[in-house]
Amino acid sequence: MHRVCGASFIPLAYLNFVTVNSTSTTAALALIAPDMQEVDSVITQRLNTGVPLVAEVSRYIIAAGGKRLRPALLLLMCGALGYQESTRFRLAAVVEFIHTATLLHDDVVDESTLRRGRATANEAFGNPASVLVGDFLYSRAFQMMVDVGSMRVMEILAETTNTIAEGEVLQLMNMHDASLDEQAYMRVIRSKTAKLFEASTRLAAVLANANTEQEEQCATYGQALGTAFQVIDDVLDYDGSAAVMGKNLGDDLREGKVTLPLIIAMQRSNPQQAGLIRKAIETGASEQLNTVLQIIQETGALQATRAAAAAEAQRAMTAITHLPTNPYTQALLQLAAQLLERQS
Ligand code: IPE
Ligand code: IPE
Ligand code: MG
Ligand code: MG
Repeated sequence: MHRVCGASFIPLAYLNFVTVNSTSTTAALALIAPDMQEVDSVITQRLNTGVPLVAEVSRYIIAAGGKRLRPALLLLMCGALGYQESTRFRLAAVVEFIHTATLLHDDVVDESTLRRGRATANEAFGNPASVLVGDFLYSRAFQMMVDVGSMRVMEILAETTNTIAEGEVLQLMNMHDASLDEQAYMRVIRSKTAKLFEASTRLAAVLANANTEQEEQCATYGQALGTAFQVIDDVLDYDGSAAVMGKNLGDDLREGKVTLPLIIAMQRSNPQQAGLIRKAIETGASEQLNTVLQIIQETGALQATRAAAAAEAQRAMTAITHLPTNPYTQALLQLAAQLLERQS
């Protein structure tokens, strides 16, 4: 067992969701297992601080694991493009720090109590500590990216963090709005989630000095994959297992957050059912969760939502068909397919 600052930590936790159905995908991801160890040691080193509460809260959430998917994507794309310099480890740690900062803030905003199978940081340490340590991780990520010394890298990550913030605010404005359509939903998830996936794969292209066309192919892969990832996440909020996901189910309806399963269910349901869903969204009535779930099931909304995710995963795969053929591109293709089956 690898240890991060005294807390138990499973370095390959990020492999969990891809091991469910495919040993070949596991083998493909094993390509970057040693690289992920390097990323973990950068993460450990760069959590250094003289302020005990910062150390405690940041280690609390980072040691809980998580799939480490964004750094894994950056490393796989570096492999696909033949880039082998150690700068990749630093940038992989940067994207994981940014991701972790967004989670600390997100759980405060969403009033969530469970993350990565344990109490959220806001539950364990309170909202002020979560928000401020989120700020610490964001700004530490910026210190690290400045160290890389590339204006292009800084430009990408500055734009990315800004877009994530816009997405989260946009989503806040959309809360309890039952008239939200698929286009508005897509705009939110492309900003709050897909943008960081896009940055992860685009950064690999920039590090590898790829030409513009290849950079856009890598970026499109990340963006489409990230979109599919969030769409599946929104399915799992209705159809998953809290024990497997390490997050609570039904949070979205409780918050009045309109996601694709609800949008499709409303489109397909009769006026009485649609009225019930509308009311549940407007009031955030979690006691209606079972009735809403029943309508979602009856209307086939979850299958339709999964089909939308599959279309995005396909778009991701198509985007990288012209990249060099090697085990890393194979892994990226398998990952896109496997993501649709993820349970956590
Ligand atoms: C959670 O992301 C936030 C979403 C974009 C849905 P992950 O599911 O990648 O979280 P961890 O890092 O594995 O916990
Ligand atoms: C995740 O969004 C946070 C960001 C992408 C910034 P959600 O609120 O939808 O995801 P979970 O369910 O809390 O992980
Ligand atoms: Mg949340
Ligand atoms: Mg949220």
